[in-house]
Amino acid sequence: MAHIISVASGKGGVGKSVVAANLAFALAKRGKQVVLADLDIGGSDAHVLVGLLHPTLTMTDFLDHRVKCLDELALPLPLHPSLRIIAGTGDTLATANMAYSQKKRLIRTFQDVHADVIVADIGAGTSYHALDFFLMADHHLAVATPDPTSVLDLYRFIKLAAIRRVLSMFLMRDVMAEGLANRDYCSVEEVLEVAGKTDESGRTIAESTLRAFQPALVLNRVSGRARVNVPQLKKLLKEYVGGDLTLLGEIPEDPAMEQAVRAYTPVIQHAPSSPAATALTKMGEALLHILSTPSTRAA
Ligand SMILES: Nc1ncnc2c1ncn2[C@@H]1O[C@H](COP(=O)(O)OP(=O)(O)OP(=O)(O)O)[C@@H](O)[C@H]1O
Ligand SMILES: [Mg+2]
Repeated sequence: MAHIISVASGKGGVGKSVVAANLAFALAKRGKQVVLADLDIGGSDAHVLVGLLHPTLTMTDFLDHRVKCLDELALPLPLHPSLRIIAGTGDTLATANMAYSQKKRLIRTFQDVHADVIVADIGAGTSYHALDFFLMADHHLAVATPDPTSVLDLYRFIKLAAIRRVLSMFLMRDVMAEGLANRDYCSVEEVLEVAGKTDESGRTIAESTLRAFQPALVLNRVSGRARVNVPQLKKLLKEYVGGDLTLLGEIPEDPAMEQAVRAYTPVIQHAPSSPAATALTKMGEALLHILSTPSTRAA
């Protein structure tokens, strides 16, 4: 079964798609069979970043039952023989508002894709679609820029993802927990309190689910002037969310990134020795290491 890596963010436009495309390419170059999956429902563009301007099949073909399995959707790319892409949905309202049952079918079917790694580009924000696609992965990457609004949105995103993760876990355990899941929660502590009232072990299970949630942060567009106080952010998340945030890496602000986007090519290919490409290649190596550690696979 493929390892799934999801790439998401609280705020839009922070570089999720370029990060996802470059990491997918970096892993393919290192010998992995990789599928880049565009799950940015209603805002898909990952195919363009890997040089495929007019995909012959997209996720819409799967959602509309024209294609049965995701492997059929995974289109080979001239860019690299080990890299395929599942292009995102077309611009239809029906797919943007995908029903819950369709989403569940889609998430289940990811288990059947023949690849070593699936890198999933997730839409920005905290919609249920974005949170559920983010959480289906074994490894979660959250992208932010040093912009204060991006950091705030990142914090919100991780908090809501943590809450949704705990609630989904309770739903899997007990269908009676539906009442629990359908309430609105402002904080992780509130969820823990309610979980504690369900049964004796409720709170302990919720806490260990939170502890196991360890998203990795990717900081993009970092420059001498624009940095993030990572230790402070980690402390805040530990205190209010309960999970540990690790820093996968930092990508500098780099004009080569924009030039690569205009050339429809990952920057690692377009300008391999540029600062952004160097940082992304290093991040790919770190991911390879994580993927080769068996215990890192999420439960
Ligand atoms: N490190 C960087 N240096 C300079 N420009 C960058 C960098 N990272 C991203 N960009 C620019 O930001 C643009 C937006 O990036 P991208 O499309 O990956 O964001 P996104 O988070 O996927 O956006 P959306 O939320 O709309 O899906 C890119 O086209 C690129 O021009
Ligand atoms: Mg994007």
